[in-house]
Amino acid sequence: MPKPQTRVLDASPADLARAADLLADGQLVAFPTETVYGLGADARNGAAVAAIYAAKGRPAFNPLIVHVEDAEAARRYVRWTDTATRLADAFWPGPLTLVLPLREGHGISPLVTAGLDTLAIRVPAHRAAQGLLRAFDGPLAAPSANPSGRISPTTAAHVLAGLEGRIAAVIDDGPCTVGVESTILAVDVDDAPRLLRAGGIAAEKIEALLGRSLAPAQPVATPSAPGQLASHYAPDAPVRLNATAAQPGEVLLGFGDMDCDLNLSPRADLSEAAANLFGHLHALDATGRPIAIAPIPERGLGRAINDRLRRAAAPRD
Ligand code: TXA
Ligand code: MG
Repeated sequence: MPKPQTRVLDASPADLARAADLLADGQLVAFPTETVYGLGADARNGAAVAAIYAAKGRPAFNPLIVHVEDAEAARRYVRWTDTATRLADAFWPGPLTLVLPLREGHGISPLVTAGLDTLAIRVPAHRAAQGLLRAFDGPLAAPSANPSGRISPTTAAHVLAGLEGRIAAVIDDGPCTVGVESTILAVDVDDAPRLLRAGGIAAEKIEALLGRSLAPAQPVATPSAPGQLASHYAPDAPVRLNATAAQPGEVLLGFGDMDCDLNLSPRADLSEAAANLFGHLHALDATGRPIAIAPIPERGLGRAINDRLRRAAAPRD
């Protein structure tokens, strides 16, 4: 049987309207955000959300982030707080996800939250994501658009490499500028925010805004705090961290001024490194050789990069 085709759309109003129609019809559409490409479905449609889990081969206990066009839309689904207002004013639209209690009458499919009474929600800044949300006029559940356990996609080509024939369409609007997923912050308990995942907004910036420190994000072996599976973001090849030189047979992913096969940022800029991270891992993985990776400083976006690298290097099942 021939594979069903995945349509490649662009960010024109006509194509965004087509994508919105597919979503309204319960189909899956991958779209760019400033962090990574997301695999979108109508968050109110249980069958559509189930199709996300099926396309990704994702464990069903791992809940999804819901994307909305602005903070006003977010407030339809969650119980809002003053802290949420301060964070949203400062960082939305942008790579910050807030976890808040679900609100009465929210209408979100329980498959999105995997049965939790909280919802992870964010307002993406990318123009195509914004255009799609406005055309669709509803909440979109969207995990990263890769098969479960694989490297997140930062181009439409990455999406097609993993999911072609398994999703209705992908909107191609070029590479993602941030390159690591959003920072996830729980603001549901006692207004004491907890960092659930380091990401595209540096934790230091959030701490400066709130005037308090956040408990550091830690990889959790059992996903009680869901989604923190240790082995995630994995290339096929073995990964070795904190490498200063390649051993025989290895390819070396560098950082800063050094001899290597690919460099995340020759000028040691952490934002540039984040933007290059998944693309360079995809490229080195394609060589079929073990990947050695240079040390990355544990500050700012370096915390998100190191979190993803530790997962890439974690023991596999
Ligand atoms: O940048 C991003 O966040 C990308 C783009 C597409 O927006 N999305 C993304 O989604 O990374 P995903 O599904 O790959 O990651 C969702 C993370 C998981 O670690 C999940 O466990 C956590 O969010 N999460 C979702 N709902 C949660 C909740 N109610 N409580 C705690 N964690 C939650
Ligand atoms: Mg993901």
